[in-house]
Amino acid sequence: MSDFGAVAAPTRSAKEQFDKQAAHYNAQWNTWSEETLSWILAHSGYQPTDKVLDIATGTGFTALAFAPHVAEVIGSDVSTGMLDQARKQAEEREITNATFTEAPAEALPFLDATFDIVTSRIAPHHFLDIQKFAAETARVLKPGGRLVLVDTSVPDGDIEAADWQNAVEVLRDPSHVRNYTPSEWRAIWEDAGLTVETIGDTGGGITIPLSDWIFKAGCTPEQAQQVRDQFANAPANVKAIYQIVEQANGETVFTWRRVAVRAVKP
Ligand SMILES: C[S@@+](CC[C@H](N)C(=O)[O-])C[C@H]1O[C@@H](n2cnc3c(N)ncnc32)[C@H](O)[C@@H]1O
Repeated sequence: MSDFGAVAAPTRSAKEQFDKQAAHYNAQWNTWSEETLSWILAHSGYQPTDKVLDIATGTGFTALAFAPHVAEVIGSDVSTGMLDQARKQAEEREITNATFTEAPAEALPFLDATFDIVTSRIAPHHFLDIQKFAAETARVLKPGGRLVLVDTSVPDGDIEAADWQNAVEVLRDPSHVRNYTPSEWRAIWEDAGLTVETIGDTGGGITIPLSDWIFKAGCTPEQAQQVRDQFANAPANVKAIYQIVEQANGETVFTWRRVAVRAVKP
């Protein structure tokens, strides 16, 4: 089994971080959604009879995107604030086949072989135990069931760049645990007994203005300054990999990679 045990416990829980962000999360992240949602839907092979679980559903972006196409969707999350927003969204959109429940990704309250599809989008980098999440996903999938995941990722083959990215993520959002490389994701799912069919990205990286990124996490002024210092003083290879550029208007922009995975339970 691969060893991913060396992650430090976050200094702020995901529940605390996302309860704080819940009310404004949807408006802020809507514009980032389309590519990743399209990738997940297109790679899920959904059928009208399918039962879908969206782990760390947040305000329900992925769960609600599946709802019109399948029989039933459950979204689970640790943040009651985010789940309340998801229920509100479902009601506003008159979606009646989606329900939302409080549950950690590492201990799912569902019977074995319950779901045809399990999804998780832009969330596993917060999970405290990635192997328990993978084992739980494998357990609740039916044979032939599909796992479809998109998350932020760090590059294979450059430990310095990967460590720098994970460290700056933690400075900005203390509930960040770790981004994994595409190779690590392959090992995580293979160790859990799934067959990885596709591993790639959703069409390249996401270019992000630094001020916007800092604002969305609700950083204190001290945190914000520490994050800015890290970007200003990043080593040359890190600046090259993440395309960190200061624009003419003084705004720094950078590009994070995403990883996209489809794996199947034999
Ligand atoms: C960046 S948001 C992404 C939400 C949603 N998947 C989306 O695509 O918009 C991360 C979500 O992961 C949830 N989360 C973090 N750690 C979790 C865990 N161990 N188990 C379940 N949910 C978790 C947070 O509460 C938050 O709602």
